[in-house]
Amino acid sequence: MALRALVTGGAGFIGSHVADALIAAGYGVTVLDDFSSGKRENVPAAAEVAELDVRDADAAALVRDGGFDVVCHLAAQIDVRKSVTDPVADASRNVLGALNLLEAVRAAPSRPRFVFSSTGGAVYGDQEPPPSAESQAKDPESPYGIAKLAVEYYLSYYGRVHGIEAVALRYANVYGPRQDPRGEAGVVAIFCRRLLEREPLVVFGDGLQTRDYVYVGDVARANVLAARAALPAARRLDDRAYNIGTGVPTSVLGLAAAMQRAAGVNGAITHAPARQGEQLRSFVDVRKAGSGLGWAPEVSLDVGVRLTLDWFRRAQDG
Ligand SMILES: NC(=O)c1ccc[n+]([C@@H]2O[C@H](COP(=O)([O-])OP(=O)(O)OC[C@H]3O[C@@H](n4cnc5c(N)ncnc54)[C@H](O)[C@@H]3O)[C@@H](O)[C@H]2O)c1
Repeated sequence: MALRALVTGGAGFIGSHVADALIAAGYGVTVLDDFSSGKRENVPAAAEVAELDVRDADAAALVRDGGFDVVCHLAAQIDVRKSVTDPVADASRNVLGALNLLEAVRAAPSRPRFVFSSTGGAVYGDQEPPPSAESQAKDPESPYGIAKLAVEYYLSYYGRVHGIEAVALRYANVYGPRQDPRGEAGVVAIFCRRLLEREPLVVFGDGLQTRDYVYVGDVARANVLAARAALPAARRLDDRAYNIGTGVPTSVLGLAAAMQRAAGVNGAITHAPARQGEQLRSFVDVRKAGSGLGWAPEVSLDVGVRLTLDWFRRAQDG
């Protein structure tokens, strides 16, 4: 019988690519989404849809009784700034939602594996210089990062105490087709739109701040591998956590140049005042995902931004 997967947030940017990849790998896929930001057109035609909030009893019942082999949990409030202005709403979706599903996994006869979308961009502190390895000190700077880390502690607890197979994938800055400008790599979507409008790219500060931009197809493949990989024993927080990035720092100026090349544009770059409190350097060490999941990034920045621009162009011409 075909393996079965539940993808929460499967109508969103990354979740819809995870659903695509699981279907391509032979899974029967159900997408659970409340469509608060997700879109119907993102959901693959072959997937079943459950329009539910991850905090609902019906969502828990689906996880418990759905006979799933894996639950890929991506549904979340993803806006870091919103988490600062309304940490209660953020924790409600991002902590209580995950906990509701984890309790259902504990009660599920099928004992599904739980693959959680965490963040490498927001859980590590600024104290140690990058690249951040999984064992690096955690010191989240936002309620969003705190909520993600809190869920990771729950995963570790459920692994140790209840024998749940739970994996945390700590994504760097994910970009690609269908992305939303509010996400952690929102700058790529914003640059795409401006390039297609033939407007200059605006860079905050000197543009030398770095991020680790990972292509969404690579992230989706990491979820498929994490659904089946042999897992180490769950003793401590980081045992079943894997960074998913490229390990390569890219400055905003470097990103702007790569995107201008991809668009065939030689336009100006405008500088705006630096944003207060912005992290200057962030990229992750991805070697553990290589040895633990058999995963490595495959799509270079040049190829990835071209695929992304092509998609934005088609969406605009729509
Ligand atoms: N985009 C990034 O760079 C990045 C980086 C690190 C981690 N992540 C994580 O990856 C996951 C996916 O992010 P994304 O960028 O695809 O965001 P997205 O907003 O495109 O997708 C989130 C999806 O979850 C759904 N959703 C939100 N609240 C829900 C609820 N209470 N019940 C059911 N569905 C709900 C939304 O409708 C949407 O379809 C999130 O958990 C996010 O925190 C993203």
